Amino acid sequence: MPKEEIINLALRRNLFFPAAEIYSSALAGFWDFGPIGTRMRQKVISFWRKNLVEKEGFLEIDGAQILPEAVFKASGHLTSFNDPVVQCKKCHSIHRADKLIEEVTGKEVPESMALNKFNEFIAKNKVKCPKDEGELGEVKSFNMMMKTEIGATGNNPGYLRPETCQSIFLDFLRLYKTSRVNLPLGISQEGKSFRNEISPRNTLLRAREFNQMETEIFFNPKKINEFDKFDEVKKYELNLFLLKDKKVHSVSCEKAVKEKIVSGKLIAYYLARTQQLYEAYGIKKSEMRFRELKEEARAFYSKETWDFEVNTDLGWIELIACNYRTDYDLKAHGTESKKSMIVKEESGEEFIPHVFELSIGVDRTFYVVLDHAFRKEKRGEEERIYLDLHPLLAPYFVAVFPLMKKDGLQEKAEEIVSVLRSNGFEVLFDEKGSIGKRYARVDEIGLPYCLTIDYDSIEKNDVTLRERNSMKQIRIPIKELPLKLWNLFNEKESI
Ligand code: GLY
Repeated sequence: MPKEEIINLALRRNLFFPAAEIYSSALAGFWDFGPIGTRMRQKVISFWRKNLVEKEGFLEIDGAQILPEAVFKASGHLTSFNDPVVQCKKCHSIHRADKLIEEVTGKEVPESMALNKFNEFIAKNKVKCPKDEGELGEVKSFNMMMKTEIGATGNNPGYLRPETCQSIFLDFLRLYKTSRVNLPLGISQEGKSFRNEISPRNTLLRAREFNQMETEIFFNPKKINEFDKFDEVKKYELNLFLLKDKKVHSVSCEKAVKEKIVSGKLIAYYLARTQQLYEAYGIKKSEMRFRELKEEARAFYSKETWDFEVNTDLGWIELIACNYRTDYDLKAHGTESKKSMIVKEESGEEFIPHVFELSIGVDRTFYVVLDHAFRKEKRGEEERIYLDLHPLLAPYFVAVFPLMKKDGLQEKAEEIVSVLRSNGFEVLFDEKGSIGKRYARVDEIGLPYCLTIDYDSIEKNDVTLRERNSMKQIRIPIKELPLKLWNLFNEKESI
């Protein structure tokens, strides 16, 4: 869907909007979520928790968002978490060099390219400032960490975490020792991360404050191919966009391992589970791919990276980084903290575990789920917009509308709302405007079902039940509603 459609919907229905928007000094790259957007984004997170974290038996933690300098010295972020920046000599606007080059020339260059190579590229291709055609200055390195002072001494810096996973590495040994678990062990976390992006853009897609749902899977590197669960996915086909020919290949997990396209069974298994998660989110398989990254394009800690991308009107959007981080982080924190990160397996083998990471962008996933669920239809002269959302991703499951506020219809509707809520359904009550307008409002935010209470409802104790996509309507006795809705929610029947 065009980005404008998504933004218009977001603003019209308060899904998300700029933080501090009443001030002219509002900062770019920070977003607030309104009542409906908050529910939908929470559903995106619960869906991940239910379909990945719980199914795979991962442990989940909730770590601090501000951590001491030593953590990021060890992790490498203070020295290596940099973006190349360039300033226009005429208008002084600042740009991220790799993105600017891509925008102006259409050519992709890795963000980790040496600074002198950036300068050579800019000179050779005569790249100018896109705002005023001004000449560009020297490309410099800019660290994206957000720094703050802890306490009153002024000499105790802390940093807002740029990725949630660092607390997982810091907590690993405690959890491994006290949770009576064996390797492989997955530890997950959902929460805020912060990056001082040079040019935030495309709303939720490149923000300075955002949420991640990350999982770090710790394993014995010698046993990367001793992974029983692999058999469950061995025939499942991954969409792999391979460097060798820059094309998508449908490759079974079995073949990906056999031909050493991935480093082992454990990695193929979790790529499969990730792709299946996004199929369940409602993204067509043909619109998703894992992009293999060459060494210069990978994060500094990664030996093998697959960026999971989904196709949208804005091109392929990266939603997940799947990184084989090896023992990079545990080793670094072990050295810096002087605490041993060595584990001992029952066999007596001692080693520092390796890590495979699934780092998912929550807000990007939310945006892409909206994008892929967005439907616009012409019905005669009328235009209809609705979100074709999975019931678990819709902000509410059912809306209840009294036809009129008077003649006992409102009371009847409130009774039904109360019964449905006590049966565990998430119900939106709306009594304002024509029924047509109310249907349009809830279609736009993807509610799967609506109930309308009219004069017949008082006489016959029944209501109209309407389904979102087909707009099909049936009459149903009020006493049958909880069971009917339960069956619809669990996809055991349709209306
Ligand atoms: N933890 C990996 C990332 O944030 O990209």
